[in-house]
Amino acid sequence: MLQIFSDPSAVAEYVSAALIAKIQSKPDAVLGLATGGTMEPIYARFIDQARQSGLDVSRLTSFNLDEYVGLSADHPKSYSVYMREHLFRHLAFDAARLHLLDGLAQDPAEHCQAYAAKLRACGGIDLQLLGVGGNGHIGFNEPGTAFDCPCHVVELAEQTRIDNRRFFAAGATVPASAMTLGLAEIMAAREILLVATGESKAQIVAEWYRRDVTETVPFTILKRHPRTTMILDEAAASLLPDEVSRQCVVGVAG
Ligand code: F6R
Repeated sequence: MLQIFSDPSAVAEYVSAALIAKIQSKPDAVLGLATGGTMEPIYARFIDQARQSGLDVSRLTSFNLDEYVGLSADHPKSYSVYMREHLFRHLAFDAARLHLLDGLAQDPAEHCQAYAAKLRACGGIDLQLLGVGGNGHIGFNEPGTAFDCPCHVVELAEQTRIDNRRFFAAGATVPASAMTLGLAEIMAAREILLVATGESKAQIVAEWYRRDVTETVPFTILKRHPRTTMILDEAAASLLPDEVSRQCVVGVAG
């Protein structure tokens, strides 16, 4: 399913409402969470809507997708700090149920296995939120990742390190490697919402639309997932064929 909204705030409104509906119907849901620029307005809107509706988030479990190898949980650019700042500290989550990969794990490969095992023990992901990289990665599953790959350590693609430089201070080095849930765990999620906003995603979204499922463009694998919704804004959808855009525009700015 493909849905196109006018802009990132209309996207945020929709995704936040979908998250709230999921949590209302299953208060102990397991959420798969992403970081990055795309998610910021979504989490901000979710926090507002959750407060307004008095949503109980205390029984939720979450597993984040990824973390840079070498960054501690209190490093300002770690995804732990991102999640605390953009979501966790704003609502009454149960900290014991919030799972993130540890960038300082002594043995990252073993840590990935343990993380995947913990996720399985929690019953897998009910609802997975995904952004997409300019090269089509989901989580940090870079082009060429095998579709059956479980949680693993990954050398980041050069394009990913360039794209993510904007989050780091001038002169700081973007870590070369990361740990990520694999395409195996992502595809096992019972429902997936993939979000892409902005012109910088238009090319890869058009490629996703045009191409068959291929490891070269990791998020094409989502075409095989029975309950995935692709949620775009008009800028990200701008290189899709006109007839697709016309059929799928469902929201306008509020
Ligand atoms: C982040 C993640 C990545 C991002 C992707 C898009 O946890 O898993 O796949 O979703 O790199 O990042 P933004 O939203 O910054 O363009």
